Amino acid sequence: MKTNPSQYTITAALPYTNGPIHIGHLAGVYVPADIYARYQRLQQRDVAFICGSDEHGVAIPMRAKKEGVSPQEIIDKYHTLIKDSFEEFGISFDNYSRTSSPVHHETASNFFRKMYEEGHFTEQVTEQLYDEEAQQFLADRFVVGTCPKCGYEESYGDQCERCGTSHNATDLIDPKSTITGDVPVLKETKHWFLPLDQYEGFLKEWILKDHKKDWKLNVYGQCKSWIDDGLRPRAVTRDLDWGIPVPVEGAEGKVLYVWFDAPIGYISSTKEWAEREGKDWEQYWKDEDTKLLHFIGKDNIVFHCIIFPSMLKAEGSYVLPDNVPANEFMNLEGNKISTSKNWAVWLHEYLKEFPNQQDVLRYVLTANAPETKDNDFTWADFQARNNNELVAIFGNFINRVVVLTHKYYDGEIPTPGNFAGIDVQTLKELAAYPDVIASSIERYRFREAQQQLMNVARLGNKYLADEEPWKTIKTDEERTKTVMFTALQIATALAVLSEPFLPFTSTKLKQILNIDSDAFNNLSWNTITSSSPSEGEVAAPSLEGSAVGGDVSLLPPGHTINKADLLFSKIEDETISQQLEKLKKTKMDNAAEKEIAKNIVPQKETIQFDDFTKLDMRIGTIIEAEKMPKADRLLVLKVDTGIDTRTIVSGIAESFSPEEIIGKKVTVLVNLAPRKLRGVESQGMILMTETADGKLRFVNPDGEDIENGAAIN
Ligand code: 2FM
Ligand code: ZN
Repeated sequence: MKTNPSQYTITAALPYTNGPIHIGHLAGVYVPADIYARYQRLQQRDVAFICGSDEHGVAIPMRAKKEGVSPQEIIDKYHTLIKDSFEEFGISFDNYSRTSSPVHHETASNFFRKMYEEGHFTEQVTEQLYDEEAQQFLADRFVVGTCPKCGYEESYGDQCERCGTSHNATDLIDPKSTITGDVPVLKETKHWFLPLDQYEGFLKEWILKDHKKDWKLNVYGQCKSWIDDGLRPRAVTRDLDWGIPVPVEGAEGKVLYVWFDAPIGYISSTKEWAEREGKDWEQYWKDEDTKLLHFIGKDNIVFHCIIFPSMLKAEGSYVLPDNVPANEFMNLEGNKISTSKNWAVWLHEYLKEFPNQQDVLRYVLTANAPETKDNDFTWADFQARNNNELVAIFGNFINRVVVLTHKYYDGEIPTPGNFAGIDVQTLKELAAYPDVIASSIERYRFREAQQQLMNVARLGNKYLADEEPWKTIKTDEERTKTVMFTALQIATALAVLSEPFLPFTSTKLKQILNIDSDAFNNLSWNTITSSSPSEGEVAAPSLEGSAVGGDVSLLPPGHTINKADLLFSKIEDETISQQLEKLKKTKMDNAAEKEIAKNIVPQKETIQFDDFTKLDMRIGTIIEAEKMPKADRLLVLKVDTGIDTRTIVSGIAESFSPEEIIGKKVTVLVNLAPRKLRGVESQGMILMTETADGKLRFVNPDGEDIENGAAIN
């Protein structure tokens, strides 16, 4: 673990641009990464916080097909939506790029070419799954089947969503094409493989030995299990027409596997940033003093801990990640978040439904962050944490301090008198918080860090409740000044310490405290640590080098603050009910869709046009109908087909009585070979369809004016 790096390269998983992003993304990856990056910046560290859109892979053309548009339209649409959502939630990337950019294509191609030229790949012609009807090789999300490790029946070709195992599509049991539903055949094709088995020694040394102590248990455990199971070569190319063309001869029609090019996206995004900022990108990737960190969700662990590091090792000139603080998953109201089932809280919708309340969501997601196990987001908890914590603890403290400062001193920070024991103790406690919070953040324990932040507000509330300035103002003005001065220091510390967690609140609070100007530029994390007085001391009344017992105070006497403004507001039951209703509707829609899907018979085999023209279908009218004796399901009909009047035996007696269908226009297949049913020759067939509850319906012509005998073609 690097303890004093020269620079931090902090990456957050590149989201696929095949849909909008939701709270699961934010909780698992982007909020923790943002807290970490903002904190390091506050510590004046050199940070490159890097992300971008992952625009290749099978998921993109699949989504395009579903929406009936081109893959380019899909990536453009979702890249913009995702980028905007991140910005609105204050995720402070230094650069947000996209893997369709020229710099990325060039970087990824060069990376592959270098590895190829240095002989790091094996070239193999192997049998891969092939969908004969779609005429396409199947890999990744184009194929599902049973996971060979955990038995999950809907595992994808490259990774099982349930147990996280990464495998080759040919490992799946009972594979099925997701394009046609067909069972694929095996067909030969040539690909380039990364021989992961050759990296076992390196990975054992690097992860199992060097990072046993400092990596999170869930991450270390997964890596150990894969390494212990034995690693096998992984194909890094695909037969696909969407992606980065494999840049070597003999690879026409093949592209780089998305998981080969996506992590290189971190490098190309850094290049784009460095170019813009006049920096040297290589320093952030190749200098030994760089601390490289990958913030990801648990489904990405294998790619960031096994495959990408092996690629970096093979290439040879890059540093390896110092840590990969992967989170588990966030569920929603007890169920797994699912894009396809629309079971999610979408960020772009939240922004509309809860305007200016980004910090509330950031707060709740961090308070419940799935750091060590999957966790659940519930709207009830969202409301409770807002009302009972943000409003009642943080907001209430600030509001009391600011309102009283205006009431007693017209908004001017009073000069304190002698500090009493309780003041010194409170300010000492306050001074300890930056280190406590920092230590939690440095160990990727963001829930714990945020709890400590709230403890600062609790400290303030308790101090006010104990010292009761609203009472002492009537009896002891000097004492009240010291108490209010002390409370204002806590408020200022909150403005600084909350920045990584609640950036919008921090900005607003700095405006209220009037510390958003250049004069307060030096007010940083460490100033708080060195700001506690000794008992009996008095603070000097100036901003310039203002001292509390010889140390710098946060907010000096004489400084004027602005009027109070609500930081948080109560969320009503009605608002929560609306969200729950929305989810209920989603559940009902899903159930209805499932029901419909159950009744939809799969499409039959393709026929040629000639096959179709053999069918002679005409419009006719039922002119007589009677029950077939001793047959519950059959009616004997006389139908005027326009060509003739003929007898047709039809199995519709359970859906219609003879009387109700006389005079009905119907569609008749007239050239079906006659056959005898219960001794009566049936000379054709009436076309029928079936409702969801099993009732038969005629396929009627659209309009009664169509003449009998009119042909269907
Ligand atoms: O799981 C995902 O959403 C991937 N698009 C993450 C890619 S991370 C990186 F390697 F780019
Ligand atoms: Zn599995």
